[in-house]
Amino acid sequence: MNFFLELLKVIGLSTYYMLESLVFLFVPKRKKNVSGEIVLITGAGSGIGRLLSLKFAKLGATLVLWDINQDGLRETCRLAEENGAVRIHSYICDCSKRQEVYRVADQVKKEVGDVSILVNNAGIVTGRSFIESPDSLVEKTMEVNTMAHFWTYKAFLPAMIASNHGHLVSIASSAGLIGVNRLADYCASKFAAVGFAESISFEMKVLGKTGVKTTTVCPYFINTGMFDGCSTRWPLLLPILDPDYVAEKIMTAIRRDQAILVLPRSLYFFFALKNILPVKVGILLADFAGALHFMDSFKGRAKKD
Ligand SMILES: NC(=O)c1ccc[n+]([C@@H]2O[C@H](COP(=O)([O-])OP(=O)(O)OC[C@H]3O[C@@H](n4cnc5c(N)ncnc54)[C@H](O)[C@@H]3O)[C@@H](O)[C@H]2O)c1
Repeated sequence: MNFFLELLKVIGLSTYYMLESLVFLFVPKRKKNVSGEIVLITGAGSGIGRLLSLKFAKLGATLVLWDINQDGLRETCRLAEENGAVRIHSYICDCSKRQEVYRVADQVKKEVGDVSILVNNAGIVTGRSFIESPDSLVEKTMEVNTMAHFWTYKAFLPAMIASNHGHLVSIASSAGLIGVNRLADYCASKFAAVGFAESISFEMKVLGKTGVKTTTVCPYFINTGMFDGCSTRWPLLLPILDPDYVAEKIMTAIRRDQAILVLPRSLYFFFALKNILPVKVGILLADFAGALHFMDSFKGRAKKD
C-alpha cells in the first residue's frame, strides 16, 4: 500500500479507537460469560489466586487449581465449594519445573479437558538487595514468575489457537513496568512476564486468532502477606491495595477482554511521565513516590515459599 494511504489508515483507525475508548469509559463493555469455561489458576492456594478461584466458582466456571502448598489448596477448594463450585480439580504442581508442568498439564487435559482461561498467578519474592540475594532464590524467582508462563503457554495455548477461543491472564506487577530498589530479581522476572505476554498477544494478532484474548495485570502492593512490612509513602496517591478489590478488578478486566490493568490508576500517570521525562526527573519522582525505600521494612511471609 502507498505510504500516504497507509498513514491515512493509521490516523483514521487511531481516531476511531480513541473515540471507542472514550465511549467505553462512560458505557462499559458487557462482561463476558465465563460459566462452563475451564479456568486454570496457578498459585491458587493463597492470596489473589484463592480469591480469583472463588470468584470464578461463583460464576460457574470449572476450576483447575495448582499450587505447591497442599494445605492452602485444600482450603481454597473448601471455600470454592462454599461459593458454589461444582467442578473443582486441584493438583500439586510446582510450576517452576518444566517437566512437572508438562506432566500435570497432560493429566489435566485427560481428566478435565482443554483449559480455556489460563491465569498465571503463582509468584515469589526474594526482597533483598541483589548482592545479598542467594543465587538459588534469584533463579527460583525467574522460574516461578517468568519461565512457568512459558511452560504453561506451551502446554495450553495450542488448543486455544486450534479453537480460536481462550484467554491468557498474566498476573505480573507494577514492578514489571518500573525498577524498584531491592527488588532487582523480582522486577526482572515481572518485566519479562510483561514482555512475554505482550509478545504473545501480538503473535495471536498476526495469526488472526482474535478469539484468544490476553490480560496483563500490574498491581502495586497488595495486602496479601507477600510484601508484609513494606510501606507506602503517600497512601492516598499509592495505597496498599485490598486483595478483594484487586481480585474484583482482575475479574472485570478478564470479562471485558481488557489487555492491561494497572492498579491503582495513579500509576498510569506515573508510568506515562517516566517514559517522556528526562531520567533525572524520573528518579526525582520515583524518590518522591517512595520507590527508593518501599522495601526498607520488608519482612515478607514468616516462612519463605
Ligand atoms: N502481594 C503483592 O503486593 C503483589 C503485588 C503485585 C503483584 N503481585 C503478584 O500477584 C501474584 C499473587 O501474589 P499474592 O500476593 O497472592 O501472593 P501469595 O504468596 O499469597 O500467593 C502466591 C501463591 O503462589 C504459590 N506458589 C509459589 N511458588 C509456586 C510454585 N513454584 N508452583 C506453584 N505455586 C507456587 C504459593 O504457594 C502461593 O499459594 C504473584 O504473581 C505476585 O507476584 C503481588
